[in-house]
Amino acid sequence: MEDMQKYDFTSILDRHGQDALAVDEIGAPGGFAPAAPEDGFDAIPMWVADMNFPTAPSVQKAIMERTAHPAFGYFRPRDAYYEAIIRWQRERNGVSGLTPDCIGYENGVLGGLLSALRVLCSRGDSILLHTPAYVGFTNVLRGSGYHIVESPLLYQAGDAKSGGPEGAVPVWHMDYEDMERKIRDQHIHVVVFCSPHNPCGRVWSREELAQAFEIFEKYEVTVISDEIWSDLLMPGKVHIALQSVSEYAKNHTVALYAPSKTFNLAGLVGSYHIIYNRTLRERVRREAALTHYNEMNVLSMHALLGAYSPEGAKWVDALRRVLAGNVRYAVDYIRAHFDGVTLAEPEGTYMLFPDCGQWMLDHGKSQRELEEMCWRVGVALQDGGMFRGPSHLRINLALPLTRVQEAMERLDRYVFNACPQPAP
Ligand SMILES: Cc1ncc(COP(=O)(O)O)c(C=O)c1O
Repeated sequence: MEDMQKYDFTSILDRHGQDALAVDEIGAPGGFAPAAPEDGFDAIPMWVADMNFPTAPSVQKAIMERTAHPAFGYFRPRDAYYEAIIRWQRERNGVSGLTPDCIGYENGVLGGLLSALRVLCSRGDSILLHTPAYVGFTNVLRGSGYHIVESPLLYQAGDAKSGGPEGAVPVWHMDYEDMERKIRDQHIHVVVFCSPHNPCGRVWSREELAQAFEIFEKYEVTVISDEIWSDLLMPGKVHIALQSVSEYAKNHTVALYAPSKTFNLAGLVGSYHIIYNRTLRERVRREAALTHYNEMNVLSMHALLGAYSPEGAKWVDALRRVLAGNVRYAVDYIRAHFDGVTLAEPEGTYMLFPDCGQWMLDHGKSQRELEEMCWRVGVALQDGGMFRGPSHLRINLALPLTRVQEAMERLDRYVFNACPQPAP
């Protein structure tokens, strides 16, 4: 609790004019940003997947210390960079046996995804992707000429195996039969996997991952595993690194990580891969080198050093408690007040992905109309359409609790309980 007072998760950070898409893009025409609110409402940024909290003090300190030295020439990553990642992976994810040669810089997780795809597939090849899916995946896959085969996650009542509560509360599951049929019939050899899952918030259990890998091994599938959200878990949840699931998983997985989601560093850019299989690793690195675009920025290296430090770890623990409180508040509020809206309990990430399908039907509103109603009162969330959620909203909860409370109250008063039902 001491750390909660030490770090500031309650002040409303003014990000205007400070290079923040989340606030400065609101109201910009022509894109996918939320429209500006009506007079009398301020915008509460709940769309872009970054946080409205200051980063860990250890990150700022590391960057400032480095900027005090006045030369920023060509460089190689320090040994400390690899050591920090190895320590972080051991302490946070229980990863043992990781060595520096298995770690490589990636200029963004999506850049790493693309390098791996170029090694593993021909253009036009079919790639399996669970849906709903992070829009970055669909954009990269489509934009680079791959064929997406969707395996929709099932939205069903929870069961003990998935770690979900018993009973009526929905939980997102993998559909193993669907995955196997598609992999087999469409000769699929690459899966793009997201763990924890954005936008559904699932933290996959070891049993679920093992079951998936039984299929992957049977059909010689390589997995590109985006684990960028692995640090942001709800209480009691544990991230299982995909590569720890089996020997096959270790040797047939390209794992992608970054401190950017965890520490709010997306603007600094700096992700990394872990690849144990030497051939695969050398080919992925060769592919990335061909573009000459995959070079690390020195300040991003120092940001990682400040982040993946003992002080950074304490900050993340405090952040996780704040996010858990925000998620609890929002989930309880929505379940208690918004009839026709259901949602699974997020187990990780700071995103909510409520399904408003019944509400939309009851009130004769489209997803777009619903979203615009939210925007008008300054709740700058995103609709789930881009993420393959046809009746969903995607709500970022990484902001001070008072802002989450304000947003829920506005949604209650002006959106979900505002419009009368149409006459039958
Ligand atoms: C699942 C997932 N992967 C990757 C990214 C982006 O990562 P990067 O900025 O390192 O490309 C995001 C950002 O929201 C994400 O949610």
